[in-house]
Amino acid sequence: MNKQALIQADRDYVWHPFTQMGVYREHDPIIIERGEGSYLYDIDNNAYLDGYASLWVNVHGHNHPKLNQAITEQLGKIAHSTLLGSSNVPSIELAKRLVEITPERLQKVFYSDTGSAAVEIAIKMAYQYWKNLDAERYAEKKKFITLKNGYHGDTIGAVSVGGIDTFHAIFKDLIFENIQISCPSLFQSEYETEAALVEGLVEEIRTVIEHHGDEICGFVLEPLIQGATGIYAQPPHFIKAVEQLCREYNILLIVDEVATGFGRTGTMFACERADVNPDIMCLAKGITGGYLPLAATMTSQAVYDAFISNRHADKTFFHGHTYTGNPVVCAAAIESLNLFEETHLIDHISKTSALLEDNLNALKTLDYVGNVRGYGLMFGVELADPSDPAQPLAIPTVERIIQTCKENGLMIRNLENVITFVPVLNMSLSEIQKMTDIFKAALAQVLENQTV
Ligand SMILES: Cc1ncc(COP(=O)(O)O)c(C=O)c1O
Repeated sequence: MNKQALIQADRDYVWHPFTQMGVYREHDPIIIERGEGSYLYDIDNNAYLDGYASLWVNVHGHNHPKLNQAITEQLGKIAHSTLLGSSNVPSIELAKRLVEITPERLQKVFYSDTGSAAVEIAIKMAYQYWKNLDAERYAEKKKFITLKNGYHGDTIGAVSVGGIDTFHAIFKDLIFENIQISCPSLFQSEYETEAALVEGLVEEIRTVIEHHGDEICGFVLEPLIQGATGIYAQPPHFIKAVEQLCREYNILLIVDEVATGFGRTGTMFACERADVNPDIMCLAKGITGGYLPLAATMTSQAVYDAFISNRHADKTFFHGHTYTGNPVVCAAAIESLNLFEETHLIDHISKTSALLEDNLNALKTLDYVGNVRGYGLMFGVELADPSDPAQPLAIPTVERIIQTCKENGLMIRNLENVITFVPVLNMSLSEIQKMTDIFKAALAQVLENQTV
């Protein structure tokens, strides 16, 4: 198809996710044809720095020869075989690697293919865990403690444990009831210090558990950063405090590392920063280096053991997807883990993260740049109205900034008035510098009418 035919067919046939199609169809879309390292190239061969890592997934750069090779080698053997009742080589090898690199308590790997599915599985497992232990004693356990502004995906279970009104309010009649705790982000709270915030939240959670303990299956949270709500960073010791409460009251700790896992926050997993050892961990996005869809729900030995029986339909976890543990996808994930080691990527991120943070913090001298927050290579910059900095910048203006960045070779996204920086994880220092330079120039062009 030529360019015009592609644009027309995109308008005619494709329904884009999380997109108001009425607005999308007003402009010609950028149609990506290929990628190379940190760059995306459209069908006119324009290059864009991938500042959103193709939706927070890309780790080692696009079109990586070693990842391509691992995938094609596996394709030469077999593209798919089922994990229902049999196994395949890459899924076994990957499970062993995941158990080795994740917190100690996590001993088993249950595969799926999206972050939403990983969370859906975690919720169902946690619910059934208590029923398998003692259905009568734990009959009331059917709720989860969740966080305001949480996001865990778009399937009904994942929406049920989410807490973002814009995305979730419309589905209120379809979802099941949970108990929501205040958002653990200082700028969203009335507290003055992180220590006071965490202390206040601990009291709030303790009160909930003391009143509803019998009903609670688990505590579900995004550790360190609530991403989709606008990159809301937490005090690192908040998750440690939650872990201590979960241990004190015998509640399953379910950590959703779909966005934060695989180096995104500067350590391999966000849990590492606070030395947290969850009962269940959800992984997806960066697990394959951002190449192919794969997710995993990892559990402790104790959770797994609660599902063991000698009789077929007794205590069995009746959940599974057709492509669970697909060998091509698992082969990509194994190679991605090899690359993490070979390129010392976590060390590299400590340098690029410091540069990104410094450059974004330097923008705070502009009175329309508000809160800057994040960890690793996951940052959000809050934009205010230049004529009234107490007000958020209007969305059409935010969109003009995003558009100007694209015209100048940077692909980034906004979440409302927050510009998000979640670049390809192995971006070089000079590419990080270029990314923030383009953003700074776009701010000047759109908000101060200065030409770039
Ligand atoms: C923390 C978190 N959990 C779950 C999901 C859902 O993942 P997926 O889009 O692969 O279903 C996301 C997606 O952004 C996420 O950020």
